[in-house]
Amino acid sequence: MSDEPLVISSVEGPIAILTLNRPQALNALSPALIDNLIRHLEMYDADDLIRAIIITGAGRAFAAGADIKAMANATPIEMLTSGMIARWARIAAIRKPVIAAVNGYALGGGCELAMMCDIILASETAQFGQPEINIGIIPGAGGTQRLTRALGPYRAMEMVLTGATISAHEAAAHGLVNRVCPPETLLDEARRVAQTIAAKSPLAVQLAKEAVRAAAETTVREGLAIELRNFYLLFASEDQKEGMRAFIEKRAPNFSGR
Ligand code: CAA
Repeated sequence: MSDEPLVISSVEGPIAILTLNRPQALNALSPALIDNLIRHLEMYDADDLIRAIIITGAGRAFAAGADIKAMANATPIEMLTSGMIARWARIAAIRKPVIAAVNGYALGGGCELAMMCDIILASETAQFGQPEINIGIIPGAGGTQRLTRALGPYRAMEMVLTGATISAHEAAAHGLVNRVCPPETLLDEARRVAQTIAAKSPLAVQLAKEAVRAAAETTVREGLAIELRNFYLLFASEDQKEGMRAFIEKRAPNFSGR
């Protein structure tokens, strides 16, 4: 076993950067790596000084999926009781904005992890896919649902049934990826987006994320109700008063997060 941390974390002002760090296994998402990732995400979610989180991968992969070697001999009951995959839901439940900087393979659980993030930036070298069908299973961490919402039912169905991967440019053309960057500028682009978000009212950012997420995860009626509730709620914040006052006074707002 190597002593290298499974997740390397660094903080740059209001931004936390988490690097999946099992490059020799193409960052396969072992239970220990996922636990580590969840621990970091939840820690930064609770830290008032952090306003946005970036996830990327070390080496030539973002993540090549759940760790096949850790699951190969598992029984259904072991999969169920260990919560090995179910606990990934805690990643999607992070309230702060999470940006995936996809630097290489995002396959299976790696693609699902990227889709749990709020913004997906991809390097030209990235590849996306749900190849579980090749090993006799199906996506288990949201792939059938999130990919279908991102790409539409026909493209998602083809990817899930054939296991075929798509390039970063194809992913961008079909709405799975926000934009494609040269590999050497990927992290800087993620930092730029994170900094832009970090300058906004954190309350408005959190409630906006919740409302946009509702569009994909609930009915339109429920989503509209969540949006309206969050919209009203922000009128209780000092940031709303400050933001509107600053606009009228033609100056930059000074958000306090209250
Ligand atoms: N789990 C465990 N180990 C993995 C892995 C995974 N998902 N993906 C890659 N690795 C390991 C390989 O076993 C190999 O280890 P060794 O050096 O010890 O042999 C190392 O990473 C490098 O991989 P390759 O030699 O295979 O590299 P390659 O460049 O020839 O191929 C690849 C790259 C096409 C991504 C290939 O590694 C691959 O197909 N990986 C598996 C992808 C996959 O099936 N993902 C879905 C997993 S299941 C899942 O994610 C379920 C879910 O929905 C939650």
